[in-house]
Formats: sequence, C-alpha cells, structure tokens
Amino acid sequence: MKITITNIGQEFNTTAAWRIIAQILGKKNSVIGLSTGRTTGGIHAAVADVYKKFPFDASQVTVFNLDELTNVPREYFGGCYTMIRNEICIPMGIPEENIIMPPTISDNFEEEGRLFEERIMQRGGIDLQVLGIGENGHLGFNQPGTPFERTTWLSVMDTPLEERVRRETQSPKDANLGGLTLGIKNIMQSRKIVLVANGARKADIIKAALLGPVTVDVPASVLQLHPDCEAILDVEAAAGILLVLQQNKH
Ligand code: GLP
Repeated sequence: MKITITNIGQEFNTTAAWRIIAQILGKKNSVIGLSTGRTTGGIHAAVADVYKKFPFDASQVTVFNLDELTNVPREYFGGCYTMIRNEICIPMGIPEENIIMPPTISDNFEEEGRLFEERIMQRGGIDLQVLGIGENGHLGFNQPGTPFERTTWLSVMDTPLEERVRRETQSPKDANLGGLTLGIKNIMQSRKIVLVANGARKADIIKAALLGPVTVDVPASVLQLHPDCEAILDVEAAAGILLVLQQNKH
C-alpha cells in the first residue's frame, strides 16, 4: 500500500481532492465511489473549490456513496445521498441520472442492494473508491467481524452514529435504523482505492489496519491485500505508524 502523509488541515483535503479530480480528468466517464462523514466533507469542498475556479467537464462522471442510511428520510441532511449531492454533485454539475444510490426506505433492501451493485456494474464497475475509516476499523457499514467475501448487504450502524441519527431525525424507538453498504468484496473489486484519515482519534486504528494482521476484526486491514490502494493520512492520524517506522529505523 502506498502511504502519503500530509500536514493537518487544508493540505490533507487538497491532497485527497486531487486524487478525485485527477481520476475525472484522466477518464471523463469514471465511476467514483465516495464516502461521507467528517473526514470527507473537507475533501469534497476542496474538489468543489477547484472546480469552481478551474471548471472541467464532470458531466459524464458517475458517482455513488458506498453506503446509505436506512429507514430515515432521504432528504435528511446526514443521509449519504443528500450529502454527496450537496457536497459534490450540485457544485460540479453532475447530472441526477449519474448519481447511483439506493433508496433510504424500502421493504426489500436485499433487492435494493442487488440493484445498486448491478447499476454500478452497468456503468463499468468502480474506477476509484474513496474510503473513510471508522474508529473501530469499519469500512462503510462493514463492522468488525464482517466476512471479507460479503457483497452489498444491510448492516447495523455503530452505536454513536445510531444515537446521532435518532436524535437528528427524531426517529421513533421502533424504527429499525441500519446501513445498506457495499460489502468488502465489492470494495476490493475497485480498480483503485484511496483511504483517507485525519486527526489523532484515528491514529490507533490506522496503525492496526495498515501494519497489523489482516483480520476481519479490523475490516480496513483487508486493504493491505489490494493491488492499487493509497492511504492519505494527516500527521495526526499517521502518528502511530510513524512511531513504528522510526523505531524500525534504529
Ligand atoms: C461512518 C460511515 C463511513 C465513514 C466512517 C468515518 O459511519 N458509514 O462510510 O467513512 O464512518 O466517518 P468520519 O469521517 O466522520 O470519521
């Protein structure tokens, strides 16, 4: 795995943003998988800023988010469709028909997952998948313990996220919240992967995922096996691996 370490702040966002921009400039009809969250918000804003200043043709790009919340309104500001639409698609003029996302409400999420995968494959499969990482090593909603051969499925949220979503959406207690997510197998089939992490709270899991054993207990550790994966880390998220690398030098 290639590891790129940046300063904290804008340099991190700009570095990751340029991977997305370069992908589009290199292949106009790229299929790009995004991730939502605190980490990628700044990256998406940097992509939109560059586009605004130096416009280029993004009208043929297909985008999706690797996961989506279930049983909340699609318009919820924390919903993945709404976030990528507001952060990337509207600012860059990516047409609605080029956004592939499952619905948030359905009585058959198994079928929705199958359709989600099928629509991505119809566009040629994933050229670039950008991934955030959970503090427990999750990728999308693939929590620790998820088998590596899993394809798109309906998983659970981690507790802090579920609590936040319930608070913000005022979901009734009996509403079964979850996350429809590409499985580890789908993620690994991406031609290129960029893992992004910033901040000290990610330092321990980044060390485990990048330097520890490949194990389902740390879903992101599977990325060590991908032939074209780059981790973009700010110095805080890289602190744990930097310590090991320095110790190995002596
Ligand atoms: C969320 C999402 C992931 C995201 C991750 C990190 O639960 N399901 O796709 O990458 O957690 O989020 P953040 O960047 O806010 O730490």
